[in-house]
Parts: sequence; C-alpha cells; structure tokens
Amino acid sequence: MQIKLMAILLLLSTTLHATPVDDLLAEYRSTGVESFSAENGKVLWSQEFTDAKTGKIRQCTTCHTADLRNEGKHARTGKVIKPLAPSANPKRLTKLKKIRKWFKRNCKWTVGRECTAQEKGDILLFIQNFNGEQQ
Ligand code: HEC
Repeated sequence: MQIKLMAILLLLSTTLHATPVDDLLAEYRSTGVESFSAENGKVLWSQEFTDAKTGKIRQCTTCHTADLRNEGKHARTGKVIKPLAPSANPKRLTKLKKIRKWFKRNCKWTVGRECTAQEKGDILLFIQNFNGEQQ
C-alpha cells in the first residue's frame, strides 16, 4: 500500500516538474517522431526561404539574429526582440502557450507553412541548448 502511494507521488512530482519543452517534445514524439537533433535545428534556423509574394529571403535569423543571446529586431515593425536563448533570457521557453503561438506564426511567415513536429522539436533543442558554441 505504502509503496504504491510512493510510486504515485513520485509519478505526480515528475509530471509536475516537466518543463514546457519536455511536454512539447513528448507531444511531438506521440506523433511518431523518434528523436530530435539540435544540429538539424541549427541548420533550419539559418535556412533561407524565398517568400512567394515578395521574392525576398526569410529566415528565423531575420528577426532573431544568428546569435540567440543577442537582442533581435522585428523585420517589419523594427521592434526590439529580447534574446531567445534561455542562457541569456531565463523567461524563454517557460510558457507552453507562447511557444506554440509563436512557432505557428513564425513558421508560417518564414517557411511559408507550419513547421513539422520534427522541425519544431529540433529547433526547441537548438534554442534550449544555445550558449554560443553552436555557431
Ligand atoms: C518577422 C520576425 C520574426 C521571425 C522571422 C521569426 N520570429 Fe520568432 N518571434 C518573433 C516575435 C515578435 C516573437 C515574440 C516576441 C517576444 O517574445 O519577444 C517571437 C517569439 C518566438 C518564440 C517564443 C519563445 C519564448 O518562449 O518566448 C520562438 C520559439 C520563436 N520565436 C521561434 C522562431 C523560429 C523557429 C523562427 C523561424 C522559423 C522565428 N521565430 C522567426 C518574431 C520573429
């Protein structure tokens, strides 16, 4: 009886401590993705996409820069965007809803479609681990 209770408590506490990134990765895995790669995330981060309407190049770096510890600048509004790397900005990747919302919006704007579960997982790992050595 007691052991069962302990097991339940342990399970509960690990669930409670799962970070939004853990939750999202678990969700992406549940769609059939087997593993994620920060290396591939990095490639996607700098990949150039041509906007169908304007013919202009769009990249994640267009607004966030290549060094995620730096402030970025919004390509359209010119607004400053705080650093995306949690190593420089601890508030990053702490809110599930926020990550979802911006993945959707930014992938559509940059890539021209929503990112796949594989791509989102790869990028999450890349952002989460970013400390400047990836450049
Ligand atoms: C047109 C400008 C722009 C581009 C291009 C862009 N982003 Fe963003 N991104 C933003 C803005 C604006 C925010 C929200 C403001 C903020 O949080 O500072 C944001 C927020 C985010 C967040 C939320 C992080 C958090 O936890 O706070 C993620 C993740 C993200 N972007 C990823 C990407 C990825 C991946 C790409 C490329 C596919 C990309 N962005 C391209 C403007 C851009």
